[in-house]
Amino acid sequence: MEKLIIEGGRPLVGEVRISGAKNAALPLIAATLLAPGIHVLTNVPDLRDTRTMLKLLSELGAVWKRDGSTLTIDCTEVDYAEVSYDLVKTMRASVLVLGPLIARLGKARVSMPGGCAIGERPINFHIQGFERFGVHCALEHGYVSAEHDGTMHGATVHLDIPSVTATENLMMAAVLARGTTIIKNAAREPEISNLIDMLRKMGADIEGRGGDEITVTGVARLRAAQTEIIPDRIETGTYLIAVAAAGGRTTVTDCQPKHLPALLDKLSESGVGITSGDSSITVEMDPQRRARLKGVDIKTMVYPGYPTDLQAQFMALMSLCNGTCVIKETIFENRFMHVAELRRLGARIKTEGNSAVVTGNGPTGLSGARVMATDLRASSSLVIAGLAASGRTEISRIYHLERGYENLSGKLNGLGARVWKEDE
Ligand code: EPU
Repeated sequence: MEKLIIEGGRPLVGEVRISGAKNAALPLIAATLLAPGIHVLTNVPDLRDTRTMLKLLSELGAVWKRDGSTLTIDCTEVDYAEVSYDLVKTMRASVLVLGPLIARLGKARVSMPGGCAIGERPINFHIQGFERFGVHCALEHGYVSAEHDGTMHGATVHLDIPSVTATENLMMAAVLARGTTIIKNAAREPEISNLIDMLRKMGADIEGRGGDEITVTGVARLRAAQTEIIPDRIETGTYLIAVAAAGGRTTVTDCQPKHLPALLDKLSESGVGITSGDSSITVEMDPQRRARLKGVDIKTMVYPGYPTDLQAQFMALMSLCNGTCVIKETIFENRFMHVAELRRLGARIKTEGNSAVVTGNGPTGLSGARVMATDLRASSSLVIAGLAASGRTEISRIYHLERGYENLSGKLNGLGARVWKEDE
């Protein structure tokens, strides 16, 4: 196993290019299973999770080739409908193939994901939705088996919570179902709109893009298409927060500022200099601004609210502010695993239930330490804290980071940081 070493205390200066979004690439790769033929996806990030999804597709009979950030996937021969525990346990987004397999092959058998470091994360909304479409679902030996006899039909499904992957899975099944499906209280994240754009290019009939009610009218068949993955808004936000924490002046390019309304507001409110262009954001944090960083409260919400995937990173920044702030996590019940690790660098954070109270130490208030990564976004908050801290920080279990950040050390070093990997 490898660990990440950071020599902190250096400002981040220059330009960094944002990669395609992990959480768009995963459902879009799964969606290729819906139609035979050769699909082309561009701006696909090369991450541990996208590699896992491609390995899964190979097991199902797809053949793919990567050329830089362009993926060509041939789904003509897809004929196998089972996904093993070994794959699902490394990446729970593997369940995204359920919808496409049920729609294309009439059956699927996918290992049921267990809990994870941020919460229980059940998939009951996915299963209840498929059942409303007339799909018979059963749980046996840790696997979800789903099957229908060619009569899958559309239905109205009301999600209790606007779940991102449940919305995606149900849309991907509904596109080939008979009749009309209405998904009420659907998730509105930009990654859902990216998937809708791809499904429409494939010939699907979908209305309600960007809204909380999505209407899908099933079609008899779909065709392969070419689609571009949107820029990763969470990677974008992570770099913006990193510069705010470590100081410096950086332009983040090839991103979508309009996908980060809540974060940009919160950064400006805390005194960070933010200038947005059409597809770039410049973040400015000189020593005066750093010394005056204000504590600002956040509450994680579904899109367009403040994203849960940027909660841990903002907490690292707030541990450098003047004053106190409250961070409330409303999406996942256990997403404060980073708190104990941030405390090892000197952060003053108290948690009670789903709230964390952070008392800032000022810009020089963190010192490097050895810490442990527990999940993807918790790990990136430790990287941010390490970049801002004095001295050396060592982060173990960095495979979590490799699941979601393309070339993290290379990008940070390009901005003047000192970051490298070593064997444990
Ligand atoms: N939920 C249920 N039942 C379900 C589905 C969800 O109770 O059947 C609950 C969850 O337990 C959670 C809430 O609903 O409390 C919202 O979860 P959601 O289903 O929206 O999350 P997800 O689809 O599993 C995606 C992202 C996550 C991101 C969340 C929230 C992908 C592949 N994953 O997960 O990304 O945190 O939406 O925005 O799109 C990450 O990238 O680090 C990450 C965890």
